Amino acid sequence: MAEQTGGDPLFESHDPIFNRKELLHVGHVPDEDRIVGRDDEIQSVAAEVGAITRGDPPNNVMIYGKTGTGKSLISRHVATRAQDAARGNDIDCGVLYVDCSEANTETRTTRQLALNLKEQTDYQQNIPLRGVGTMEYYQHIWGILEACFDAVVVILDEIDKLDNSNILMQLSRAREAQKTDAYIGVIGISNKVQYRETLDERIDSSFGHRELFFHPYDASQLREIMRNREDAFQPDVLEDGTIELCAALAAKKHGDARKAIEILKEAGELARRTGSETVSEDHIQQAQEVAEINRIEELTSGATVHAKLALYALASCIITGDRETYKTREVYERYVGICELVATDPITENGLYRQLKEQAFLGVIESEKTGGGRSQGSYLLHRLVTDPKHIVKAVRRDASLEDLPTDDRLRETGPSTGNRDVDLTSFS
Ligand SMILES: Nc1ncnc2c1ncn2[C@@H]1O[C@H](COP(=O)(O)OP(=O)(O)O)[C@@H](O)[C@H]1O
Ligand SMILES: [Mg+2]
Repeated sequence: MAEQTGGDPLFESHDPIFNRKELLHVGHVPDEDRIVGRDDEIQSVAAEVGAITRGDPPNNVMIYGKTGTGKSLISRHVATRAQDAARGNDIDCGVLYVDCSEANTETRTTRQLALNLKEQTDYQQNIPLRGVGTMEYYQHIWGILEACFDAVVVILDEIDKLDNSNILMQLSRAREAQKTDAYIGVIGISNKVQYRETLDERIDSSFGHRELFFHPYDASQLREIMRNREDAFQPDVLEDGTIELCAALAAKKHGDARKAIEILKEAGELARRTGSETVSEDHIQQAQEVAEINRIEELTSGATVHAKLALYALASCIITGDRETYKTREVYERYVGICELVATDPITENGLYRQLKEQAFLGVIESEKTGGGRSQGSYLLHRLVTDPKHIVKAVRRDASLEDLPTDDRLRETGPSTGNRDVDLTSFS
């Protein structure tokens, strides 16, 4: 057993479940030999930026893919390896990483790039934290690159959160505009494939770039990713079949490696809290539910109260009814009753329809157009992509909505809860 006590027995851990829990932490960057199932992607990214290691100009590349498909991990991994290989060839290569979901303006991004560069060198000039504009940060960036680097890989993660794409043009034109002689290779990362179109509209050909698409992991890849971190647990703690189950559940829902690892960790914590000596399939199931509620809450965190009430209304229809899909009208009627419960003025049916469409966009619901027969015209049918009780739980986590009935209560009392005026016969 690897005990990490720092030499002081006071801090000796006797964790019966976890051995190296840090392997399961969200921010944990796995060692090279723990990265699995992304060999082709690693090769592809390396092929775009790799010229740097030979003193040649790299290609820019955009990576698209859903969350948890290894985009950030693989980008950093390849960039660091390129840097090492370049150094082996006596080429001074820097790696810069900016999370644009935090640095979401050009000024913030350039400031972080400048500060990041300064940290990696002995550049003496002061870089002000505030009170100066984008142009001044660019000056520092060009200055440091010119003085200290032959090449640099710039990773702009979650680039779709950036309010404009000028920085892509600045970086790709820097040499041409004689700002610096250093080669600059940009790796842009986006969770949204839709960003691709807006990018084309916003930039010109100077940011010539290749595109890569990372696909969700399948069950066997997720299994391997988790197997590679089995030593997060004490020996023999994970029961047979637990990793397989976790991988199967995650692959079915989203193929997100981060979520799969989170479920495994949550299952371990559950086992520990309940005094169990092993982690069982049951723990995985329960952990998966918690993770799913968290996921829904995350997805809907930016949504309006009405969008949440609309989701709750659809969940309520499904829980109390005997169908999986409901018409906009049916959801609306339920929604109006629920608004009364929480003393909120309802929006119009058309407004609610738009909210539902937005939720469909987030991947929480699916809406499908159905012909209602010649006389009735076509209408939309909405279904939940997840278990309705997860929606109810996630929505009730909003402090202003915590008084809504729980899913158990909905089941007991039927559709009458929050729905006094609606005639049930209209639901069939
Ligand atoms: N191929 C992989 N091998 C091992 N761990 C992985 C792999 N892909 C993702 N992970 C784990 O999942 C987490 C999420 O991956 P990340 O690269 O942040 O995904 P994305 O940027 O696409 O959202 C990482 O921190 C890492 O721990
Ligand atoms: Mg990422």
